[in-house]
Amino acid sequence: MSGVRIIDVRMPANAERRDYEVRVGEGLIDLAGAAIAPMLKRPFAAIVTDEIVAAAHGERLEAALGDAGVASEMITLPPGEATKSMAQLTTLMSQLLSLGVERSDIIIAFGGGVIGDLAGFAAALLRRGCRFVQIPTTLLAQVDSSVGGKTAVNAPEGKNLIGAFHQPSLVLADVTLLSTLPERELRAGYAEVVKYGAINDRDFFDWLEGNGGALLDGDGAARIHAVAHAVSAKAAIVARDEREAGERRLLNLGHTFGHALESVYGYSGALLHGEAVAAGMGLAFDYSVRKGICPRDDADALKRHLTRHGLPAGIKDLPATNADTSAARLTALMRQDKKMSGGQLALILARGIGEACVERAADLADVEAFLKSAGGQ
Ligand code: NAD
Ligand code: GLY
Repeated sequence: MSGVRIIDVRMPANAERRDYEVRVGEGLIDLAGAAIAPMLKRPFAAIVTDEIVAAAHGERLEAALGDAGVASEMITLPPGEATKSMAQLTTLMSQLLSLGVERSDIIIAFGGGVIGDLAGFAAALLRRGCRFVQIPTTLLAQVDSSVGGKTAVNAPEGKNLIGAFHQPSLVLADVTLLSTLPERELRAGYAEVVKYGAINDRDFFDWLEGNGGALLDGDGAARIHAVAHAVSAKAAIVARDEREAGERRLLNLGHTFGHALESVYGYSGALLHGEAVAAGMGLAFDYSVRKGICPRDDADALKRHLTRHGLPAGIKDLPATNADTSAARLTALMRQDKKMSGGQLALILARGIGEACVERAADLADVEAFLKSAGGQ
């Protein structure tokens, strides 16, 4: 087992103690019972997972809890983005209540970002809020969604529009769980790794230029380094701006374009969330060049890196389907973004790699013209 890295997430001071640890390492799943048992009021935990994760790793988690004397019940949901819905949330809440989950119990979100976001939202709501532990099983969830307390389901009107901020009590990121992750999912998660370099860490981007291939090929030390580095970066931002009043918005680099793309592809397997974020980051950098704030070389370097690691870097790289990627449609969807305020859209742009910035009132007519020139018809 490689050395376990521990990152403290320091929450803003308020009435509750909400600081928590994110542990990153190998074999942490087998120690999950020992880690969680001391947090419990009674020796019971409800696990929320999806069918694929349950089949691959469910018994191992149940055994680890059992070894520590913790009884568990596993609720298994269908895999995929469609599970992040109000309908599934309602079903899940009923299942948790039928199991008699109490406010002082812990719910374990065991899966990728879909399960983490849904189970975390259920935990925020159940009996007005109970604790939850994240055991993320995708690269995306380990570097991003399991940390920071954003929980949500999608609405027909757009992505993540119904949700809550609810911090987990512990995150166990076991990089060995990634060994069963399909390569395409791994690459999609890698987009969120690159995001941290693109936002504020040119050195990390340079590290990825040299080590991204090894990370994707399964190098455990490279994975631990990248996950721990990304989590530390996110934890620092969340500690300063939990509710996204300012700096946290930078973590949405690529997401405003990306969410619009995900929506036109119908949240289907045709375009994964991380792939949409990759294409969105390429678009954000290209738009920054158009606005005259980013050197073309930086945009090209970022896009080359994404392409080299099998990710789309713009609209022209997206799968050919009958999805309506017209500039007008994408711009209309961007108007639904959560960063709309007072009728104006805050768009995350970049002055270069490692220098993301917020454009407070994006000119949506100009964005639409840009998207037309970028291939959005
Ligand atoms: P996902 O949860 O759908 O997982 C992807 C696929 O991989 C699923 O089919 C799943 O069953 C499978 N899988 C998961 N772990 C596996 C494993 N170890 N082995 C084999 N298969 C495995 O998708 P994701 O990419 O993890 O998450 C995407 C979601 O995360 C989106 O809904 C996005 O909005 C959300 N997200 C949230 C935040 C946040 O801060 N809350 C941040 C980024 C993304
Ligand atoms: N994934 C963006 C955030 O957590 O703020």
